[in-house]
Amino acid sequence: MRLNSVVFKLGATILFLQLIILIPLGYIILQLILNYSYSQTETQLINLSKKYATEIEDLSDTENFTLLEHLTDMTSTSASVVDAEGSPIIQKNWHEDITNEVLSESQQEQIQDGKSVVEEYTYHGATYLKVAQPIQIENQPNASVVLFSSFGLISSSIHQIIILVLLASLGAVILAIGFTFFISKKLGAPMIEMEKAAKQIAERKDFSSRVHYQANDEIGSLAKAINHLSTTLERYQTNRNEFFSNITHELKTPLTYVKGYANAIRHEMYQSEDEKNEFLEIIENETDHISNLMDDLMDLSKIEEGKIDLNCEQVDANQLAEDMARRAQIRASEKGLNVDMIPSSTNAYLYADKSRLEQILTNLVENAIRYTEKGEITLQVKDKKGGVELIVKDTGIGIKKEDIPYLFERFYRVDKSRSRANGGTGLGLSIVKHLVELHDGTISVDSEWNKGTTVSLYFPK
Ligand SMILES: Nc1ncnc2c1ncn2[C@@H]1O[C@H](COP(=O)(O)OP(=O)(O)O)[C@@H](O)[C@H]1O
Ligand SMILES: [Mg+2]
Repeated sequence: MRLNSVVFKLGATILFLQLIILIPLGYIILQLILNYSYSQTETQLINLSKKYATEIEDLSDTENFTLLEHLTDMTSTSASVVDAEGSPIIQKNWHEDITNEVLSESQQEQIQDGKSVVEEYTYHGATYLKVAQPIQIENQPNASVVLFSSFGLISSSIHQIIILVLLASLGAVILAIGFTFFISKKLGAPMIEMEKAAKQIAERKDFSSRVHYQANDEIGSLAKAINHLSTTLERYQTNRNEFFSNITHELKTPLTYVKGYANAIRHEMYQSEDEKNEFLEIIENETDHISNLMDDLMDLSKIEEGKIDLNCEQVDANQLAEDMARRAQIRASEKGLNVDMIPSSTNAYLYADKSRLEQILTNLVENAIRYTEKGEITLQVKDKKGGVELIVKDTGIGIKKEDIPYLFERFYRVDKSRSRANGGTGLGLSIVKHLVELHDGTISVDSEWNKGTTVSLYFPK
């Protein structure tokens, strides 16, 4: 695991938090117990010494000291009875390391004043609590009973507490490490997988890589986003490859014609001057076709890159359709077709790019003329709620239901040779759809095989 990894940082933070809580908590508990034990021992000693001091009436009677012996044994304290001069009369449960003087001079004075003495001191490395109580016998200077208790017992329990705190800290460390490993498996593994996938996408342009982490959390949605990105890129790549092979194909066909007929003319392979002119006309048509294809491709690439700016203005849809119909009539007449125009009953104004609207309608009307042999083409404007509907209807060959969903794909043509023969590139409807959507509009096609086709556009106002 790297030191700068997220998981390591997380683990270290958890550990730090645990210790930051445990150590002061342990210290506070320790202090509480210490204070409690000291005050307990102190009151216990004071009570004992008081009790004993009142019970002694005669210092010369050693019988008096048996009780003291029992007391010291039972409470594991040490005791001494000191005479008025400060010299010990007896010492119970005694050993050298308790003290070198039972009572100091000032303490002896306190006893003579009838006051008790409480002192905490350290001797030979051990802490003791000393409590002295004056023994008041009538007409005699005060003797005293002095009790000693070491804190050995207390310090052993303190030791235990310290060990407990240390153990808890160790447990916390182990827990934090365990948790870090768990998290590194849970978090780190998918992150590393995502890093690999992203690198594969960026460096090797391999868009087939997927992240296999599935969960309903943030990492899960990041994984999903990466998968979505690679799917999109993969589709884009396939699309692009198809597009280029399509373009190559679309260019090759007319070029083959041009080359073939140019060759034929150069080698004088025509029978008559008329045939020669026919060859030349084919060459002219094919170059037109290439030129059309280039225009459409330029348009499409600009639209798809989002480089088209709309110059929107108020457009009178009725006026526009009227102009379109008039222009279309000239071309339609060549095929013996009639162009009708049905305006809307009310004003139909649109906020749109006029030249783009013309481009859209020209494409649709061209299609209608191209794929209609007899009958008529109708342009209709309808004022719809919140928008305007433009309809281009023909009585032509129609489109089969199963082909309709693919019409807007680039280079999709139901009948390739018919489209080609009429100068179609297969890009028209794809461009139209993009332009309509740029205007926040919608396009739909309704068609019946051998009966005719209706293309409806809807633009919001
Ligand atoms: N009005 C229509 N009637 C019948 N078929 C149509 C019509 N409009 C479009 N199509 C079909 O949809 C295909 C795609 O149209 P489009 O993208 O404009 O390409 P094209 O350059 O061939 O006109 C056409 O090749 C044709 O098969
Ligand atoms: Mg077309």
